[in-house]
Amino acid sequence: MRKILVTSALPYANGPIHLGHLVEYIQTDIWARFQRLHGEDCTYVCADDAHGTPIMLRAQQEGITPEALIERMSQEHQADFADFLIGFDNYYSTHSPENREFASLIYLRARDAGHIDKRTIKQAYDPEAKMFLPDRFIKGECPRCGAPDQYGDSCEVCGATYAPTELKNPVSVISGATPIEKESEHYFFKLGDFEEMLRDWTRSGPVQPEIQHKLDEWFENGLADWDISRDAPYWGFEIPDAPGKYLYVWLDAPIGYLASFKNYCDRTGKDFDEYWKPDSTTEVHHFIGKDIAYFHTLFFPATLEAGGFRKPTAVHCHGFLTVNGQKMSKSRGTFIQARTYLNHLAPEYLRYYFAAKLGPGIDDIDLSLDDFKARVNSDLVGKLVNIASRCAGFISKRFEGKLCATLDDALYQQAIGKADTIAALYEKREFGHAMREIMALADQANQYIDEEKPWVLIKEAEKAAHVQHTCTTGLNLFRVLMIYLKPVLPALATKVEAFLDAGELTWADLEKPLTDHAINRFKPLLTRVEQESLDAIIEDTRQAVADMAAQQESAAKVSGPLADEPIADEIAFPDFAKLDLRVARISKAEHVEGADKLLRLTLDLGGETRNVFAGIKSAYAPEDLEGRLTVMVANLAPRKMRFGVSEGMVLAAGPGGKELFILSPDEGAQPGMRVK
Ligand code: 2FM
Ligand code: ZN
Repeated sequence: MRKILVTSALPYANGPIHLGHLVEYIQTDIWARFQRLHGEDCTYVCADDAHGTPIMLRAQQEGITPEALIERMSQEHQADFADFLIGFDNYYSTHSPENREFASLIYLRARDAGHIDKRTIKQAYDPEAKMFLPDRFIKGECPRCGAPDQYGDSCEVCGATYAPTELKNPVSVISGATPIEKESEHYFFKLGDFEEMLRDWTRSGPVQPEIQHKLDEWFENGLADWDISRDAPYWGFEIPDAPGKYLYVWLDAPIGYLASFKNYCDRTGKDFDEYWKPDSTTEVHHFIGKDIAYFHTLFFPATLEAGGFRKPTAVHCHGFLTVNGQKMSKSRGTFIQARTYLNHLAPEYLRYYFAAKLGPGIDDIDLSLDDFKARVNSDLVGKLVNIASRCAGFISKRFEGKLCATLDDALYQQAIGKADTIAALYEKREFGHAMREIMALADQANQYIDEEKPWVLIKEAEKAAHVQHTCTTGLNLFRVLMIYLKPVLPALATKVEAFLDAGELTWADLEKPLTDHAINRFKPLLTRVEQESLDAIIEDTRQAVADMAAQQESAAKVSGPLADEPIADEIAFPDFAKLDLRVARISKAEHVEGADKLLRLTLDLGGETRNVFAGIKSAYAPEDLEGRLTVMVANLAPRKMRFGVSEGMVLAAGPGGKELFILSPDEGAQPGMRVK
């Protein structure tokens, strides 16, 4: 028995799962389920990719902690995956103690072996948000074509790529401030130290030919040092020997595969080291999108080597998903979220459709909605389920639910004769080819039933045994097809297992046809995909996109000030009670000679007056204030200032400048009243 560990790429914890993601999870899940069905020991783990600047900023924007955000996203992701029948053995998070431990260990081992360099670099910095800006957080005019509102790494209009420093009129996406250049010390992983190992390893067969070509180019261009540190504020793991510096999210993300598996091993008693020691004879397969091949075929294996772990058996890349021949688009309503799809259609239609389209290469795959409907209705409803529904009625109504002792052996042998071919196709990820083989067998079964015409013969009493034989053959062919399709259609397989009443379907069952056996009453297994469901998905997707935009806008509005100035540490009531706040009338307000920020206020407390200097000149002219009620701190110790003694403080809200708002009690309040 092979021992196989399988992973899919870890989705970022700052957005929902969409159909583009699902190509990969469905591909991986089919492969893992096939391995188990075929008798192998196969473990499938994944996790949320929980670190990085976008997650930190999104949490800030929502006014919650990153921990709360990643917890919520993890729940949502896991619900989506479960409902798409993605059968993970473990789903974890990169923000976990196991991952911190492995990431630190790998970093320290790399450092001790001399693979880490430190040097000072210049980067764009947001002086208002007080943080370094990743390229994607700077926008400006394209240096080549002048298009406005382009990101710091590339222009969506003319396709130019450039450094963020080349953008014209750059602004920080976070605060709107003009970025400045600032120096800081960064840590670099010396990828070049691993060049020979990487050349040998990548040529030993773990990658597809298309990726091998890419690798040749990358080796040709030279393996540059990899910047693995980020300065605070950053959401991630602090570098063990460098306080205030954090490991870049892409360093700890793939290490999350090990962490999730370790967490699974600790839970189940599986042997982690057996899988990850350098000379392991087990298999590790990573399924990823072609866009992150560099990380998985160069950076990650090099860090594994530095850390003393084995390298993957294979990295399997797939292409992107297009919908109706075009990139998924929010405005066209084709940026379809997993949940939106699930609200209208069963998961197995999409699982089957993707299986029918998937090959071993990195070509993009297209979800054409018309083709989807036609293919699913024709193959699953018209061919597959039709075999069972044509035969089951006769068996239950005329033969008390019993299959007879004989079947058409030649036909049966022909169907199971494809087992090795189909297994090999699954193994090589030639799922589309496998589906065609299986549907060809479904066609043969239907043709056989057409020729035998049980619905005619059943009218002649002496042909009853023949009809039972035909339907026993038909249902056994259906059973063979369901065994072949079980990795793709696991929920349908469960229903069929209940119907056939002979336990779980396994690959080994192919050799054991069901004869002389009572089955259960047939219940409809699948309904057709209707156009209305597809229309509703598109409509809901448009709506979801609009809702998300509105939500983001209001989150930004509501939480702006809170995010700028988080709520201070809790205090006890007696501390609050020490403050004596009083209503005061501003009887006089005047400029102060030589002061640019201060106004001198004379405050009437109803029996006592106070002289207070207030830093509110940027927002108020003296004449706006005279006669107004406000609130002051009346028991603040007098402070000697350059222009005189200030005997208290007035209360105002806001960040400063023109945005300052003094507090005013409602009409009816009297000077001298205590505020409590
Ligand atoms: O590209 C992405 O969506 C990343 N979150 C994938 C990480 S895969 C692995 F390295 F963790
Ligand atoms: Zn441009």
